[in-house]
Amino acid sequence: MITEIPDFNIRAFNTFGMNVECSKWIDYTEPSDLPSVFASVDRHRFRCIGAGSNMLFTGNYDGTLIHSSILSVETEPCDNGMTRLRVGSGMTFDKVIEMSAAAGLWGIENLSAIPGDAGAAAVQNIGAYGVEVKDVIESVEVYDIQENRFRTIDRVECGYGYRMSMFKLPENRYRYVVTAINILLSATSGPKLDYGNIRQALEDKEVSALTPMDVREAIIRIRDEKLPAPELVGSAGSFFKNPVVSREVYDKVCLIAGESVRVPHYEVEAGVKIPAAWLIEQCGFKGKTKGNAAVWHKQPLVIVNANGQATPDEIIGLEQDICRAVDQRYGITLEPEVDHI
Ligand code: EPU
Repeated sequence: MITEIPDFNIRAFNTFGMNVECSKWIDYTEPSDLPSVFASVDRHRFRCIGAGSNMLFTGNYDGTLIHSSILSVETEPCDNGMTRLRVGSGMTFDKVIEMSAAAGLWGIENLSAIPGDAGAAAVQNIGAYGVEVKDVIESVEVYDIQENRFRTIDRVECGYGYRMSMFKLPENRYRYVVTAINILLSATSGPKLDYGNIRQALEDKEVSALTPMDVREAIIRIRDEKLPAPELVGSAGSFFKNPVVSREVYDKVCLIAGESVRVPHYEVEAGVKIPAAWLIEQCGFKGKTKGNAAVWHKQPLVIVNANGQATPDEIIGLEQDICRAVDQRYGITLEPEVDHI
């Protein structure tokens, strides 16, 4: 079923809570709706939107927002002992995690409580606590607007990287609409507990006795401690990506920090990853406000709509202040993780 609404206010459909409109809102419930949806949509003035949890609307959107309400979940055992879940793109991904954890299936429990829908999770390659959704994705089902056909894209062709996939490449921006994702979960693989303080959050539980639900609950406790509650404070999660810099730039950051400070960092293939949260905090932005926008007081990587009244300009103003300060102090250019639309 297709529902079309002109001049639609999307405040309730972006987690930042920006009070803006789109020219047209289209909701659809079946993959088979898509050919007729695209028969009338301007193919260069539309965006697919899930829960709007990684988007900053910079003003009214002069185009069509296309929203999936494909809410199916099919479960199928595979020959190799894994279980395949075929999840409709409009399913809230956390609901899928809750269901799979309750069924004793491992693989996505560390991604618990990340806001957003399944389709967007596969495009964005959401990640947290040592797991990325690409780790479990087998394939992504799409409608290819350029070729007017449905396709299944395997995980290699998805071209996954850190918060990246081929669906995000500029040449593909108006090409693919995700209809379903296929993920492979395991009843036996066990927990991934190496990131940060997951082990502590599990208190004294024996690792061998842990269930996916135990880990899910621990992750939710950790997130509740540090991140704003999405239903109370508008944000889009991490606003910036963690930058990967050269060894020389990392050495310079250490020099600026001084001998007594240990600069947090992780060695990665392309260089050294430094947490953007640390850089932003060092520049004095933790808890800082600008009008109705603020840097979250417990996790400075998150910019929030502090009282629900922030405008796009206030959020962008704070973003620019942060980028300028980090660049001036460390010579590092922060890249937004949130899509500006
Ligand atoms: N840090 C500070 N000050 C703070 C908070 C953190 O200096 O107030 C430094 C610490 O060194 C800490 C490090 O930042 O060890 C990393 O912090 P955290 O574990 O909170 O993770 P992050 O790198 O800031 C990333 C993801 C989050 C994800 C967490 C946990 C990105 C852009 N963000 O944040 O994802 O939940 O790891 O895995 O990679 C999101 O993408 O929206 C998101 C919330």
